[in-house]
Amino acid sequence: MELRMAIAETLYRGTGVKGNEIFVSDGAQCDISRLQMLLGSNVKVAVQDPSFPAYIDTSVIVGQSGKLEDKTGKYSDIVYMNCGAENNFFPDLSTTPRTDIIFFCSPNNPTGSAAILAAIRATDESPRSIFEIPGAKEVAIEISSFSKFAGFTGVRLGWTVVPEELKYSNGFPVIEDFNRIVCTCFNGASNIVQAGGLACLSRDGYQAVCNVVDYYKENAKILVEAFASLGLKVYGGKNAPYVWVHFPG
Ligand SMILES: Cc1ncc(COP(=O)(O)O)c(C=O)c1O
Repeated sequence: MELRMAIAETLYRGTGVKGNEIFVSDGAQCDISRLQMLLGSNVKVAVQDPSFPAYIDTSVIVGQSGKLEDKTGKYSDIVYMNCGAENNFFPDLSTTPRTDIIFFCSPNNPTGSAAILAAIRATDESPRSIFEIPGAKEVAIEISSFSKFAGFTGVRLGWTVVPEELKYSNGFPVIEDFNRIVCTCFNGASNIVQAGGLACLSRDGYQAVCNVVDYYKENAKILVEAFASLGLKVYGGKNAPYVWVHFPG
């Protein structure tokens, strides 16, 4: 519970997310699978295109995807939301067919594009969480990780936020089902790794993590400038560790 509270207080201050709504995990990849187990095969999903492979592959495994179409290399029952330079790598939801679930990843891997708050605050700052958007607690689940933020990719630590306000159409709280899945399929992140996570969220630890993130952001900026100086089109690298470069041909 200590880590859940620390995540809520450090990373979700002002959003209304509470410690009991945070499920500590062994990383985002694993929680994507557990989320798909919650959703089951009878839902239609939309994914960013391109996107991190786990969203599509888990859809295939749970039986949501339909058939692989030879011509396009895409699955018949998945809605692919084009994310390219022409739409600033942000899907146009007004033209996206309605689905039960939208997987939205920010910053997106591989495009390096981070969502901005322009729609609600007329600013280009990148939100830390979808729960900064009013009303999100009624419609969103957020999967997050210590992998990039604190270099825990091999150590394995993450979390998923399932708000109490999120309900099925019959009024049953989704958090109760997710709790059951987590308690059945996962026996918890080890005490050792949780202690590491708590250290990262302590006052000094958090400052040290932010310093390293700033260093990586500076590296991304150097890469962006180097590719741009070669005349190549470069995207991402701002509020994201990924840089997406267009190599003609
Ligand atoms: C978009 C995205 N989701 C999930 C993951 C998996 O992260 P984790 O190490 O927390 O499992 C990654 C890792 O690269 C990623 O880029």
